[in-house]
Amino acid sequence: MTVLLLLLWGASLARCIWPTSEPYLANQDPPPLELVSTVPEPGDEGVETNGVLVFTFDAPVHPDAVSRETVWLTAGTQDVASARRVSLLDCSVTLRPHTPLIPLLSHRAEVEGVYGFTAGPLAEPFAVVFTTGDSTVVEPSPSTPSLPEVFSAVFASRCAGCHSGALPPAGLNLGTVEEAAAGLINRESTLRPGSTLVVPGRHASSYLMWKLLDLPSVFGDPMPPNGDWPTDRGCANTDADLRLIADWIDGL
Ligand code: HEC
Repeated sequence: MTVLLLLLWGASLARCIWPTSEPYLANQDPPPLELVSTVPEPGDEGVETNGVLVFTFDAPVHPDAVSRETVWLTAGTQDVASARRVSLLDCSVTLRPHTPLIPLLSHRAEVEGVYGFTAGPLAEPFAVVFTTGDSTVVEPSPSTPSLPEVFSAVFASRCAGCHSGALPPAGLNLGTVEEAAAGLINRESTLRPGSTLVVPGRHASSYLMWKLLDLPSVFGDPMPPNGDWPTDRGCANTDADLRLIADWIDGL
């Protein structure tokens, strides 16, 4: 009993001397996310009617922060129905209208309140007013790598050494293409329940990408833990293998 009381007393004393960092962090407002550039730029004219709109920030945007309430496009008073895509590798949000824009008309793309993984919400709403032309742009077709390509470029050499065999770490087996498909696509993380390792069509919501980019919300170590790859985890990311994985997920 005395020993237990001493232990409890010791623990509370230790807390007084070394307070946890949480109250300190709770009192701090994280610096806001900042908008770096937009395409089109404010005031642009002759914008192609089938183009996409891109907002680029100084840090990756959290996918949960992006909805029709925070990023939207209007023509006059009409909402222009669009798909929203977050890119963790470009730190951007793209709006892709479902149908071509009306030619020779003023449009307004707006962003408000989006936040990052550590960055707080944008300090100010921002609007890009632009005018469409009457031409279209020829878009490059998106590259959609297959899982066997991703497997031989990355998983076989960088992951399977640990993630294979009877008891792979975190129960994730990346030993063969089939095992990687079964272990990743629509599978819940064992260490962070509620997160999905690969969300088809959405690399920004895929916990696998968060682990590879070492985003602040991950549990455990960044992957791979030996730190020899990727060397670039920043915005405007140049790592071809990270892009390969993101493009594979987006194409699923
Ligand atoms: C040196 C051994 C090692 C290597 C190499 C390695 N991992 Fe891991 N991985 C682990 C361990 C240990 C864990 C569990 C602890 C953790 O998450 O930090 C883990 C966890 C994970 C998780 C989390 C699974 C979950 O359910 O939460 C993912 C995703 C992952 N690894 C993917 C990869 C990928 C992709 C690669 C290759 C790019 C890789 N790992 C390379 C050891 C490794």
